[in-house]
Amino acid sequence: MSSLYVKHPPTHIEAPRPSNMLKIQTKFTPTRGFKSEDLPYNTSLSLSEQVRSSVESSLHNLRPTTSTSCSGENSPYVDCLILHVPLPTAFAMLEVWTTMESYHPYRVRNLGLSNVTLQVLRWVYEVSTVKPSLVQNRWCAETGYDVAVRTYCAEHGIVYQAYGILTKSLLLASEPVQELAELANVSRATSLYYLVIQMGVVVLNGTRDDQKMISDHIEFRKLRRLANQPESQETWSSILDRFGYLLAARA
Ligand SMILES: NC(=O)c1ccc[n+]([C@@H]2O[C@H](COP(=O)([O-])OP(=O)(O)OC[C@H]3O[C@@H](n4cnc5c(N)ncnc54)[C@H](OP(=O)(O)O)[C@@H]3O)[C@@H](O)[C@H]2O)c1
Repeated sequence: MSSLYVKHPPTHIEAPRPSNMLKIQTKFTPTRGFKSEDLPYNTSLSLSEQVRSSVESSLHNLRPTTSTSCSGENSPYVDCLILHVPLPTAFAMLEVWTTMESYHPYRVRNLGLSNVTLQVLRWVYEVSTVKPSLVQNRWCAETGYDVAVRTYCAEHGIVYQAYGILTKSLLLASEPVQELAELANVSRATSLYYLVIQMGVVVLNGTRDDQKMISDHIEFRKLRRLANQPESQETWSSILDRFGYLLAARA
């Protein structure tokens, strides 16, 4: 919500793209664990060819409507190319990551990792030429709300994005989330998204419902307005503290 990431971007993007408003991400998904019929490449290709085929297909699908060629100022680009899941060996990881690096910085502005442990993140950071600038991980109690990964990201200037914030979340029923929702008269979903953002996390909003997306934004603006009111400061910091303790306790 501090940045807007779209789940199902339009097939074509109007040019010029307002870079401060709309961020487009795409992923390279290795075959491991995914149905081959859903993959945008032939699984008999080498790993680097799979990456190329996947990225080229994203760049083609996301080309600006006014673009007639793939060169010049209207060249399609994505803001971030994310490796969906780590590969099982260091050799495979390196092959995929170096191929991803070859698109940086023009066709792909940033590279990211998803579903990574601290160990994998640290290793990629150390061996890569183009460092990961984004991590996208599940927000859940089982990983201790990823505190170790988030700390590493903060220390290395890496954006930490969270998904799964609402899915089966026990936090929705927690006291600080409910208190903030009641205080600001917003939904518990928005209240939770807001509190997670205050932890330095970029929230991925999972709704497919336009109206819900709009109302989330309205409620979010309301929360920001209230947070800036001097008379709210004490209650606000108490809610934030209690939310922080809750994450630490459930970690
Ligand atoms: N990297 C990965 O491996 C990975 C894995 C999973 C998801 N993701 C990405 O993460 C993003 C978030 O998806 P998520 O499923 O994790 O989201 P989420 O925050 O866990 O939301 C889950 C569901 O909550 C419902 N919801 C109810 N009230 C809502 C409200 N006020 N605002 C928003 N949603 C509300 C939505 O269903 P309705 O559509 O019915 O509103 C939504 O689909 C997506 O872009 C997805 O592609 C990444």
